[in-house]
Amino acid sequence: MSIDQYKISNEPYYQPVSNEIDLYEAAYQARMPMMLKGPTGCGKSRFVEYMAWKLGRPLITVACNEDMTASDLVGRFLLDVDGTKWQDGPLTRAARIGAICYLDEVVEARQDTTVVIHPLTDHRRQLPLDKKGEMVEAHADFQLVISYNPGYQSLMKDLKQSTKQRFGALDFDYPEEQTETEIVARESGVDPETAGKLVQIAHRARNLKGHGLDEGISTRLLVYAGQLISKGIEPVAACTMTMVVPLTDDPDMRDTLNAAVHTFFG
Ligand SMILES: Nc1ncnc2c1ncn2[C@@H]1O[C@H](COP(=O)(O)OP(=O)(O)OP(=O)(O)O)[C@@H](O)[C@H]1O
Ligand SMILES: [Mg+2]
Repeated sequence: MSIDQYKISNEPYYQPVSNEIDLYEAAYQARMPMMLKGPTGCGKSRFVEYMAWKLGRPLITVACNEDMTASDLVGRFLLDVDGTKWQDGPLTRAARIGAICYLDEVVEARQDTTVVIHPLTDHRRQLPLDKKGEMVEAHADFQLVISYNPGYQSLMKDLKQSTKQRFGALDFDYPEEQTETEIVARESGVDPETAGKLVQIAHRARNLKGHGLDEGISTRLLVYAGQLISKGIEPVAACTMTMVVPLTDDPDMRDTLNAAVHTFFG
């Protein structure tokens, strides 16, 4: 069980948008479980990677989905040549080694899965391995972080209050213009002027959220567009491929988005 494989050796590039770094650091000092809320592709995962690096903690990330069971998080007995052998799941491993455990899109998991985090996220800081008959006491440095996209939840799928109220929470959103332009230029290698145009197109598309688009163009997609342009792809083609086609199949909506692209890269 090596800690080093989960350590982040190089500083991840993270551009702060507010005082989130200080707030998170204080929350970590209190070992407070944290919930990061915000739309897809706005920097939540990058922030956790950065904070794990800054705090010098290993990071174990788990992408949650609706087929996930508690055993996928906690662990299970596996058959091998000598019979059965217990294998820790990612949550158990993180609790033992004192990692930051990031459960990405935890709302996707079924409620019987989410309740396994309850004893870990209150004063007990314990994880019962019922099948194994072991009570794991979390390492002093362990912290649980979950992400949550407020747009996607149906009432059925939302987290229970008894789960939500175990976390401190930070709101994330697409960064303001200047910051986002810097991020896109830095991450994709395009010049600031081109990055600025990509951000402008995104602003137009973001106004269409709820008016035919489920979600605006994410910072991630702007970085994708910039990466293609950096590789010599003509901007309109790059934008179509990364900022129009992924978002919608509706022909009218595509026309609207293409018009925004042509406004800036005519
Ligand atoms: N503040 C930021 N600093 C540096 N890069 C950023 C920042 N915000 C967004 N990015 C860029 O946007 C990309 C997407 O961000 P990230 O993967 O963190 O999104 P996310 O919020 O975790 O999305 P999802 O909910 O889909 O997992 C990153 O790979 C990075 O290039
Ligand atoms: Mg993410």
